Amino acid sequence: MALGPLVEVKDLVVRFPIGRGQAIRPVDQVSFSIEAGEVLSLVGESGSGKSTIAKALVRMVEPSEGQIIVNQRDVTHVRGRRITQYRREVQMVFQDPFGSLNPVHTVERHLAYPLRRHKVSGQEGVSRRIDKLLEQVGLTPVSETRHKFPHELSGGQRQRVAIARALAVNPTFVVADEPISMLDVSIRAGVLKLIGELRDNLNLAFLYITHDLSSARYIGNRIMVLYAGCVMELAPSAELVRRPMHPYTRLLLAATPGNRDRGPLPETSISAPNLVEGRQGCQFANRCPFVTDVCTQTKPPLMELDKGHFVACHHPQATA
Ligand SMILES: Nc1ncnc2c1ncn2[C@@H]1O[C@H](COP(=O)(O)OP(=O)(O)OP(=O)(O)O)[C@@H](O)[C@H]1O
Ligand SMILES: [Mg+2]
Repeated sequence: MALGPLVEVKDLVVRFPIGRGQAIRPVDQVSFSIEAGEVLSLVGESGSGKSTIAKALVRMVEPSEGQIIVNQRDVTHVRGRRITQYRREVQMVFQDPFGSLNPVHTVERHLAYPLRRHKVSGQEGVSRRIDKLLEQVGLTPVSETRHKFPHELSGGQRQRVAIARALAVNPTFVVADEPISMLDVSIRAGVLKLIGELRDNLNLAFLYITHDLSSARYIGNRIMVLYAGCVMELAPSAELVRRPMHPYTRLLLAATPGNRDRGPLPETSISAPNLVEGRQGCQFANRCPFVTDVCTQTKPPLMELDKGHFVACHHPQATA
């Protein structure tokens, strides 16, 4: 029997009331899927709704509309005991490896807690499982690392502890919200490489969130570009970088070091996007150099313009 993708998000909307009967929609009808053993990179500028999507996926934020299906189960509004079960399947790694660990707990204690709480170590025993997790994330020799406190570790090592803690409950899906952006540049590649190894060795699915297209391309099987809560483009990574069709993606690429030869697109406005509900047309219209009347009137649907290459634009550009 052919099963669907591991993660399926359909027309997800998150709205936050902001008073006087108004609301913002930082996530506006977002749809995507992730296969087992796939990294989907989510790229977007600050405030585009990346973390809100992440939080909706792990159910730290209540979705307002749409559906989230994981492992063939609708988890959009699960509660009670079923949410505890769901939280074993889906784990999150946060941006700040300093804030996400408790300064008075050893590495061992950080890992023992989820193992005991979710009773996942079974026959193997908690102690052996901790060794295995530390090996998996490259924190060796494990006998030394186990007894260290967060302040005795580098930023990269702390993030590896956070990743080990996420893996403790044997998830099938990990949401990593800017996991390398607070790390020194020299250790970023190591953490990204680890994510790639975990994907390949454990067949894990990742949503990898970043501002930065180069890391999105390095680690992502596919890239999804978000702007003001809307998906602008979604394609296999190499394809998206080689043949970007949305003016916003092209602008992002032109702003990536080493990509100047594509010819930078003129910025027509740098005003922050308006997230207030009830807006019309394409969110990118007020910054787009190719804007026409239809762009300000009608929201462009996400269309598959080439195999696996989706674009939401009234005037997609296949060439620079
Ligand atoms: N609980 C909340 N209540 C009201 N507004 C919120 C809430 N959480 C987020 N927002 C707003 O939603 C928008 C999107 O925020 P979000 O944190 O998802 O962006 P982001 O893409 O992760 O940005 P960054 O790159 O800076 O992390 C922002 O305008 C933010 O202020
Ligand atoms: Mg964020």
